[in-house]
Amino acid sequence: MQRRWLGNHSLEVSSIGLGCWGMSHAYGPADEKESLATLSSALDMGINFFDTADVYGDGHNECLIAKALRHHRKDVVIATKFGFVGDEHGKVSVCGRPDYVITACEKSLQRLGIETIDLYYLHRRDPDVPIEETVGAMADLVVSGKVRYIGLSEVSAETLLRAHKIHPVTALQSEHSLWHRDVEKTLLPRCRELNVSLIPYCPLGRGYLTGTVKSLADLAEGDYRRGIPRFKNDAMARNQQLVERLKRLSRQSGHTPAQLSLAWLLAKSPSIVPIPGMKRRRYLKENAAAAGIQLSQALMDELDALGRQVSGERHNAQNLLFVDQ
Ligand SMILES: NC(=O)c1ccc[n+]([C@@H]2O[C@H](COP(=O)([O-])OP(=O)(O)OC[C@H]3O[C@@H](n4cnc5c(N)ncnc54)[C@H](OP(=O)(O)O)[C@@H]3O)[C@@H](O)[C@H]2O)c1
Repeated sequence: MQRRWLGNHSLEVSSIGLGCWGMSHAYGPADEKESLATLSSALDMGINFFDTADVYGDGHNECLIAKALRHHRKDVVIATKFGFVGDEHGKVSVCGRPDYVITACEKSLQRLGIETIDLYYLHRRDPDVPIEETVGAMADLVVSGKVRYIGLSEVSAETLLRAHKIHPVTALQSEHSLWHRDVEKTLLPRCRELNVSLIPYCPLGRGYLTGTVKSLADLAEGDYRRGIPRFKNDAMARNQQLVERLKRLSRQSGHTPAQLSLAWLLAKSPSIVPIPGMKRRRYLKENAAAAGIQLSQALMDELDALGRQVSGERHNAQNLLFVDQ
């Protein structure tokens, strides 16, 4: 497995990381035994970059990672996030208050069973708290040794710059894939300018770009994707054209649609490290192999052209409100 540096030569991680969200929540039923086996196999394959968050399964995901990786602390880079909070009625909001940053970090450290978080992200910007205050508290965590490096998720280029002035930001995690390319307009250039790595989340379009999800019938009851406009039946049917073209390129090149999706991201910049979500061992080898694929310029051009017309929003209306524009 190839390696890449995050930020300004801060953290060295496998070129492909592992998104762990689906192991606790979101994409069909969780299976703890299989999740633990997946985490262990990922390590065996040289994947050392594990992505979680306090909100994934309400702490379950961090505990799962602790269970799987506790004997490999020195070999792994653990990234987690804070910021989403729920009230007793289930209403979700974002909190970036400095006192909350400290409390959330303590809780994540306890669940993860570690003394220092390698990369600590603000999951979403709190619109009521200046970013300088939130990042100031994150910087204090670095000083006190609770966190090694800091990151932000789904913020604008302007917010990234303001945050970076307070403390160097090592990584920005945002949605980026063949069917969602907004970050390429202003964020990717800003990341290059500031030496911030881009960590694309949902690099496989929540599974859609792999060609295995064609209609709502392919998704379990309660699957998170059922609430996303892009996964409504009409939009999914229209977006099949994109997947069909991706499948054609896949047949011609000898790589799977998932591999093309990941190799295309890796080719965009040497500081991009995608974190495909996998809750089963089934796709590990295939996705890990994408790190070694070199795409020709002609194939890059064809892939670039794919996502020009995508139907449906990528988040539901509520979650779009949390995205910093
Ligand atoms: N910062 C944020 O706000 C944010 C938001 C969303 C996600 N994330 C992070 O990003 C990670 C990745 O995103 P994601 O998991 O939402 O979406 P994703 O990586 O685009 O897609 C995950 C889905 O693709 C399936 N899959 C993986 N490899 C495949 C292959 N080769 N062939 C067919 N299907 C394949 C997975 O199946 P199985 O589940 O069956 O293995 C899963 O259903 C998450 O796990 C999480 O850590 C962050």
